[in-house]
Amino acid sequence: MTDTELFQKALQAADCAYAPYSGFRVGAALLAQDGALYTGANIENASYGATVCAERTALFQAVLDGKRQFTALAVAAKNTDGETVSAPPCGICRQALAEFSDGSLRVLFGTENDLNAVPLASLLPHSFCL
Ligand code: THU
Repeated sequence: MTDTELFQKALQAADCAYAPYSGFRVGAALLAQDGALYTGANIENASYGATVCAERTALFQAVLDGKRQFTALAVAAKNTDGETVSAPPCGICRQALAEFSDGSLRVLFGTENDLNAVPLASLLPHSFCL
């Protein structure tokens, strides 16, 4: 799957977001090493801290399906006007992804016309580990 195709999957997943409070819809598409694809979207809550980001809903679905190794993650976001806007993963999601990566996971974010592809290690150079 190409980077553009993976980003399109993330864009489609953004339509599944539950985001009545921010109106900011985020989609994620996570490619497992075996080629399986997992998508996620942000799920907000009236108790704002209970909100879960798109990246982690995708990651948790994959982990619950037995996957532990991933090659690429695309993140796409739509603002309240439905426009695609760049949304690199937040800090908590970077740390969550780092649990299942040696840092080489390719993270794609941006827009269709300006897509960035960077290794997770460059987004979170000193991840916490035990
Ligand atoms: N959000 C994500 O889904 N992923 C991120 O990496 C950052 C933020 C969501 C959480 C919330 O529902 C909305 O974007 C606005 O912060």
